[in-house]
Amino acid sequence: MNHNYKELAKEFGTPLYIYDQKQIEENYHRLRSAFDKHYEKFSIHYAVKANPNPAVIKVLIGLGSGVDCSSPGELEHALRAGVPASKILYTGNYESPEDLTKVLESGAKFNLDDLNSFKRMISIKTPERVSFRINPGMGKGSHEAVVTGGTDAKFGIPYEKAIEAYQFAKEQGVTKFGIHMMTGSNNLEPFFFAEAVEKLLTIGGGIFKELGFTPDYIDIGGGFGIPYHEEDVPLDVELMAELICDKFKEGIVKHELGEPELLVEPGRYLVGNAGVLLSKVTGLKDSYRQFIGIDAGMNTLMRPSLYGAIHRVEVPYRSSENTRLVSICGQVCENADILAHNILLPEDIEEGDLILLRDAGAYGFAMSSVYNGRPRPAEVLIENGKARLIRRREKIDDLFNFYV
Ligand SMILES: Cc1ncc(COP(=O)(O)O)c(C=O)c1O
Repeated sequence: MNHNYKELAKEFGTPLYIYDQKQIEENYHRLRSAFDKHYEKFSIHYAVKANPNPAVIKVLIGLGSGVDCSSPGELEHALRAGVPASKILYTGNYESPEDLTKVLESGAKFNLDDLNSFKRMISIKTPERVSFRINPGMGKGSHEAVVTGGTDAKFGIPYEKAIEAYQFAKEQGVTKFGIHMMTGSNNLEPFFFAEAVEKLLTIGGGIFKELGFTPDYIDIGGGFGIPYHEEDVPLDVELMAELICDKFKEGIVKHELGEPELLVEPGRYLVGNAGVLLSKVTGLKDSYRQFIGIDAGMNTLMRPSLYGAIHRVEVPYRSSENTRLVSICGQVCENADILAHNILLPEDIEEGDLILLRDAGAYGFAMSSVYNGRPRPAEVLIENGKARLIRRREKIDDLFNFYV
């Protein structure tokens, strides 16, 4: 995916998030067709947290996707993007009464994080259907901060205690059920997903047998990874879907779980490689190390500072024949504000050059902040080869919007 970055920088300025609609479409179709071959009642719910821009949500909804939201703000993004309630899932954690009220009002399906979440909910209204997020006792992710299952995870109900939650919900008059897990993010290993699915179905089997119901849906979360490094082996989605569906079909028969819908909630997989962050060199420094300062930093793309994530860096208009070892940093007054450590880049880079950070479509803009008084960047979407501004660049004046 390459574009005329000079033109884009001239028209929209830098730093700039650029998303490619075609790539999002390809990602969606690849995932969808891999699962469709194996299980009919399958649906994708795009995890809006990865990139909540309404234009991005609209692309995915247009392809037939649903969404998964994790906060009232994300829910509002989905609603305003025109997503019907029937296609919205809500998976929060430690949900407040205000969060739960908004979810109930929206008519969306939801996965509750705990029995106490359900207790808070019924003090507002008893729902017809409940699904709980189960911690299946296992998790995996590309960094410990994105492992969301297992004994160190703050999410979900430990599987040993889940039956209590379902029993309580049944006693309160709930008649429809789902079950959910989300064990970690950015996994490239197909067998891990199948293993987790097998475990969830075994757990679900025990629960629903005792409950005397079958679930309407089984939601196995997202977490499908993308290669960020040159050495990463891309996730074999065909194999993953086959392994997951085999375990799923085997499990629903073995544990008498009826014919539930199989839901997935990918974020990164759908939009991660569809986005780049375009930025400009603001200063070169020959210090104890060679630094290249750019106009994007941890305020713009937080993943490298937050969990040592790697984004490939490119210099679109320089030859790479002679290189030197450099670190790329932003302008924030934190030494964690390094976007790439000790990488080889063309030695002729000059101030004003454009720098590209790849695979920034997920958890890029979504995690950005105005730290150090730097307004957030603009976002554009490339549709049929043409760039459309989908979020204007923030201005310094915008920083004063909330002072009273
Ligand atoms: C509940 C839930 N669903 C889906 C996702 C999306 O994860 P990913 O972007 O790794 O697919 C997350 C990410 O944190 C999540 O918490």
